[in-house]
Amino acid sequence: MHRIVQLTDLHLQSDPAISYKGIDADAHLQQCLNWIMNLKERPDLLLLTGDLCHQGSHSAYKRLHQMLQRTGIANIWLAGNHDDKVTMASVYGKPIDELQQQSLGNWQLLLLDSNHQPDGCGGGSLSVVHLQQLEYLLQQLKNQPTLVALHHNPVPIREHWKDTLMLANGADMVRLLQQHPQVQAVLCGHVHQVLDRVVRGRRFLSAPATSVQFANPWEEVTLQPELGPGLRLLELTSRGQLYTRIQYLPKLNKQLHAF
Ligand SMILES: [Fe+2]
Repeated sequence: MHRIVQLTDLHLQSDPAISYKGIDADAHLQQCLNWIMNLKERPDLLLLTGDLCHQGSHSAYKRLHQMLQRTGIANIWLAGNHDDKVTMASVYGKPIDELQQQSLGNWQLLLLDSNHQPDGCGGGSLSVVHLQQLEYLLQQLKNQPTLVALHHNPVPIREHWKDTLMLANGADMVRLLQQHPQVQAVLCGHVHQVLDRVVRGRRFLSAPATSVQFANPWEEVTLQPELGPGLRLLELTSRGQLYTRIQYLPKLNKQLHAF
């Protein structure tokens, strides 16, 4: 059994004394990490699916790196629309815009950068090269259970919802994944709420943010202030089964300045 914790949409501020939508983003992340460290079963991997640092500043990535290092747990960083890939890579130590591949037992993790041709409003896409690499790897690894992860949601949060900030070429990705039943799930962030939908035979999952939760698709002003930080736990069995659940943590009462 292998265990992954997905952490997403951390939105660490350049100055940790400044709030992100009324909350202390650093404290929320630390609360999640403390909770993870108290788990009876230690995770093998922390998977961070983007919007790690709200303004993409070097100091925020450094703080993130230090907080993660203290857990002693391996971690993978994916970029979101708020991240600065160059600055992020300089702290992470690896390129952020290349397809990353990682094995976990007999499982494969394929990690994509969804910030190709950003629209400037929060949307993103996968490059043609990335889609071709993904197709090639899925053909090569057709007998291995696989997870695919990226920041932007490739499918709308709700059926029939016109989601203008999702992955622009999500339909291409969904069509490709339809051909590859070894993909047990696609993990994304970006939406600050829980998504669990099966589209064309593949399961699309998001995790709640470690920062703040949105109430509805892209109504950012509609927060769910009663909800604390959240995360997704995943268990991968050697037989290729995936078990997953969401965990919300208690709301912190610490107040920070909003500017
Ligand atoms: Fe976000």
